[in-house]
Amino acid sequence: MRLVVFGAGYVGLVTGTGLSDLGHDVFLCDIDADRIEALSKGSVPIYEPGLADLVRRNQRNGRLRFGTTIAPPYDRADAYFVAVGTPPTASGAADISAVLSVADEIARVAQTPALVVVKSTVPVGTCDAVQERMGGARVPLEVVSNPEFLKEGDAVNDFFKPDRIVLGARSEGARATLRDLYAPLQLSGERVVVTDPRSSELIKYAANTMLAMRVSFMNELSRLCHATGADVHAVRLGVGTDARIGKRYLYSGPGYGGSCFPKDVQALAALGKASGVPMRLAEATHLANEEQATYLADLVEKSLDGVEGRTIALWGLAFKPETDDVRESPAVKLARALVDKGATVVGHDPEASENFLKVMAERPEHAGKVRVTERDYDALDGAHALVLLAEWRSYRAPNFAEMKRRLAPGDGELPPVLVDARNIWRPLDVLRAGLRYQGIGVSATGTTRVHDRPSQR
Ligand SMILES: NC(=O)c1ccc[n+]([C@@H]2O[C@H](COP(=O)([O-])OP(=O)(O)OC[C@H]3O[C@@H](n4cnc5c(N)ncnc54)[C@H](O)[C@@H]3O)[C@@H](O)[C@H]2O)c1
Repeated sequence: MRLVVFGAGYVGLVTGTGLSDLGHDVFLCDIDADRIEALSKGSVPIYEPGLADLVRRNQRNGRLRFGTTIAPPYDRADAYFVAVGTPPTASGAADISAVLSVADEIARVAQTPALVVVKSTVPVGTCDAVQERMGGARVPLEVVSNPEFLKEGDAVNDFFKPDRIVLGARSEGARATLRDLYAPLQLSGERVVVTDPRSSELIKYAANTMLAMRVSFMNELSRLCHATGADVHAVRLGVGTDARIGKRYLYSGPGYGGSCFPKDVQALAALGKASGVPMRLAEATHLANEEQATYLADLVEKSLDGVEGRTIALWGLAFKPETDDVRESPAVKLARALVDKGATVVGHDPEASENFLKVMAERPEHAGKVRVTERDYDALDGAHALVLLAEWRSYRAPNFAEMKRRLAPGDGELPPVLVDARNIWRPLDVLRAGLRYQGIGVSATGTTRVHDRPSQR
């Protein structure tokens, strides 16, 4: 098929590249001219494992092209995919202006009947609004909702092995075309959920909010554990072994981040408000997440008896491992809170340092208070504490004695502290190296063991 994908970000780039790898002729269109120029030269502007090789392979093959405007033959595409951003507005509701502007562009350029496949996460009713908006097109265009469920850090894998493919389509013809398109991804059994566009749009918000709710609940429990002396590892294992509950997304930590959970939870709450049906759980999930960020900043401050004039090292600046995405990253929130309290922050991340510095530079008053290091241990030199925020593999088995050597000597009786915001280290290993350990809702004296910790997102 001849396909156009609007938006060459995390979703559009993975989707477009994946579709070209399945044998389709794909044109990726983005208004960001720098991004398109880089991609045209084979340089992939985002970090996503396996993506760069896949882009280059299909580019060489002539099946994947990039541009900023639609020109023939792509005005005669079989389907136009919409994968542009839907960021939150001040009220938390999703801003769908980019989706609408793409809809206008498709209606203007399309020369032959086509499907318009909305992959962006959009509020219920958006596909219907887009359909109406394209009423003036010279050819029939049918809008289909096909929300994206990929996880950054594992997105290529998710494209080729999706848990499910949700199709919200009004006509049999549209359903059949998309079933055909996605058939090569389902050789081991069909995973398509077919429904109407409105239900399909809501499925995406429901799924993300449900997952975020589990994380927020565990984060609240971790604070309760801290206050009462219970241990959140034990609680997680005890709860997660109930088959009705399951083990995933039950890890306490610094709060969820990224471009999806925070925005989608708030958008569901806003949609509920606008529809006269308050989404109490979504509202509480968001609030609990905000509180977790404050809790973590307080924890660091308390463990050092104040952070003014101190240097704090942060490991893991992306919102999670295996991505360079720092949108809503707990590291950004913590760094800002610490600098506001008078601390200096030195960060390290295998892929996200540049993006982190860019975001931190948005607050000119923080200039000179934030830097990053190329090597992980260099961030610890002379720091009073290290906070682990995103559990990249390279942080999982560190040399604690080396950490002790690098960190500033503690205050009097108090050795330097490692704040393990992902609960991945064994407290005893840390204590044996002459350091203090502070986890999230776990014993600081090493009475519990960390168990296998598969990636959550
Ligand atoms: N990132 C994820 O993990 C993820 C997962 C599932 C769903 N989603 C949803 O997918 C959508 C895209 O997310 P993303 O993370 O890929 O966003 P992104 O910010 O990485 O990329 C969006 C791209 O769209 C481009 N764009 C904006 N307006 C455009 C226009 N009019 N024409 C062409 N290009 C335009 C931007 O320049 C940018 O490159 C959002 O609705 C998001 O909620 C994201």
